[in-house]
Amino acid sequence: MFTHQVVWITGASSGIGESLALAFAGQQARLVLSARRRDELDRVAKRCEQEAGLSRTAIMILPLDVAELETAPVKTDEVLKHFGQIDVLINNAGVSQRSLCRDTDLTVYQRLMDVDVMGQIALTKAVLPHMLERGRGHIAVTSSVAGKVGVRLRSGYCAAKHAVMGFFDALRAEVEDEGIKVATIVPGFIATPVAENSLTADGSSFGQADEDNAGGMAPDKAAEVIINGLGRGKREIPVGEGKEMMAPWLKRVSPELVFRMTKNRK
Ligand SMILES: NC(=O)c1ccc[n+]([C@@H]2O[C@H](COP(=O)([O-])OP(=O)(O)OC[C@H]3O[C@@H](n4cnc5c(N)ncnc54)[C@H](OP(=O)(O)O)[C@@H]3O)[C@@H](O)[C@H]2O)c1
Repeated sequence: MFTHQVVWITGASSGIGESLALAFAGQQARLVLSARRRDELDRVAKRCEQEAGLSRTAIMILPLDVAELETAPVKTDEVLKHFGQIDVLINNAGVSQRSLCRDTDLTVYQRLMDVDVMGQIALTKAVLPHMLERGRGHIAVTSSVAGKVGVRLRSGYCAAKHAVMGFFDALRAEVEDEGIKVATIVPGFIATPVAENSLTADGSSFGQADEDNAGGMAPDKAAEVIINGLGRGKREIPVGEGKEMMAPWLKRVSPELVFRMTKNRK
């Protein structure tokens, strides 16, 4: 489905992004792998070569910090110089939160918004003119069930994930008739290091696994669901296998019940 297509994945150094890189490599796509840690991107590239037989020349490693918004056009130019086109952009980089609002420094909220919202918007805006010019392209963002339902200890993360859901739904309405597909990915609990990497009240990393994520869907399985959804042109791709996947539906039919449940959930 994505053979020879140029697929740019942010957050490709770990978790869902790493599994997506392998899934696209399995289809012999050309890959642009982005995140901050170059050594981890090298490791993922090696896996794509060894496990999926992807040629090294089909992989571009492009370290970046999505929160450095001004670099988005520069990085986009680098990809276009290298591969000549961008078919798919997957805005997957992200960071979560584990802290109560009352304790959380405002700078932590700013960081969550910069990484989880503004970074995705900046890269999307940088790539969009190229896709509009070609009259084709596919843009995805990894939101979350937390982008549909608010939960304790994640007020900034929920705000960010709700924000990207709104932004990309609105973008879809603007560009779909111009040949650009927009997909919002809505994971529940996926077994990645997302909890360990979450920000606490002072901005330091939480550093601990959490039961919900550790017991969640395997990231390779999640990547399979996502790549199939993208291949079928789905506009929204729910991915997960636990009870949390019922939450967006339940909030529509019985919001009061969901508000009570989220309050009682530690
Ligand atoms: N796992 C879940 O249960 C779950 C559920 C819902 C949504 N999600 C979303 O799924 C996405 C992927 O998360 P994950 O679960 O795979 O967690 P993860 O393993 O912690 O991966 C996060 C990725 O984002 C990258 N990243 C973080 N900050 C960045 C920055 N400033 N600039 C560029 N890259 C950055 C990280 O790489 P570097 O550290 O190398 O930069 C890493 O590759 C996130 O958007 C997350 O919110 C996850």
